[in-house]
Amino acid sequence: MAVTACSAPGASSDAGAGGDTTLVLYNAQHEDLAQAEVDAFTAQTGVKVELRNGDDSELGNQIVAEGDASPADVFVTENSPAMTLVASRGLLAPVEAATRDQVPAQYQANDGSWVGWAARATVLPYDTRVLTAAAMPASILDLADPAWAGKVGIAPGGADFQAIVSAVLSLRGEQATADWLTGLKSNARIYQSNSAVMKAVDAGEVETGIIYHYYWLKDQAEGAPNSANVALKYLGNQDPGAFVSVSGAGVLKSSRHPEQAQQLVAFLTSQRGQEVSAQSTNLEYTVASGVASNPALRPLAELGAPAVDLTALNGPQVVTMMQNAGLI
Ligand SMILES: [Fe+2]
Repeated sequence: MAVTACSAPGASSDAGAGGDTTLVLYNAQHEDLAQAEVDAFTAQTGVKVELRNGDDSELGNQIVAEGDASPADVFVTENSPAMTLVASRGLLAPVEAATRDQVPAQYQANDGSWVGWAARATVLPYDTRVLTAAAMPASILDLADPAWAGKVGIAPGGADFQAIVSAVLSLRGEQATADWLTGLKSNARIYQSNSAVMKAVDAGEVETGIIYHYYWLKDQAEGAPNSANVALKYLGNQDPGAFVSVSGAGVLKSSRHPEQAQQLVAFLTSQRGQEVSAQSTNLEYTVASGVASNPALRPLAELGAPAVDLTALNGPQVVTMMQNAGLI
């Protein structure tokens, strides 16, 4: 008899432990993956999350500009340089130890300011009609060689490409990176996105390019509408072109809901959060709580990725160097 009397309109979904809390998540990851994570988090905790979507450097710079007045409770990125930018300004609260314990050391900031929750592998897509894996360069740096003039597609305006440049910079130093960018400027055709680069390889506009693994895997899973003529070269051998980029998550020091914000970062790296990622069509790598990635992915341990100090990856310097090279 009393049941209906309790159900005030709109109040029923607030009955969980999260009460009326709504976290603001500045999200630079792919929106579908972030939304799937947030939906699972809200179902588990009752804490609601409002997504504000943008790209890595846009949202990183926005948080820096907003400072302590930022409405963001949590920041999630596609790649780590934007995370490092925000951390370098002292705007992140330390991630709780129990959350850090869920993530292997190579996938989190060594100062405890943020943790990785997904990862992506750098690959070179190539046109199987004109190239074989053996004919591909041994290093990503070789794409600056005149032999590749006009044959390379890149998306230099995107955060993904800029993260790869930050790895080259960290591993090979400023001069080698500047020379590489200059070579790419003369060799490469410019595209708006990684998907467009892959499509251009498929169409025979360019012979190869630089992208992350999941663009190809997703397209293959959908019947290869834009990658039927494309295979992937994994460079391995600790080459900068075998760089594995880490998607970060951190809690803003200025968050008005620090407890729930920590809960969200804990969830992203938890077994459940990692399973959401592994089961999504996004096809990025899982990195935490021992959850295996989708079996379609070449195992992380087999990629021969170079060891990179994530906190040393410098987004602003990369942007300046790419501007100097005329790539952006
Ligand atoms: Fe991406």
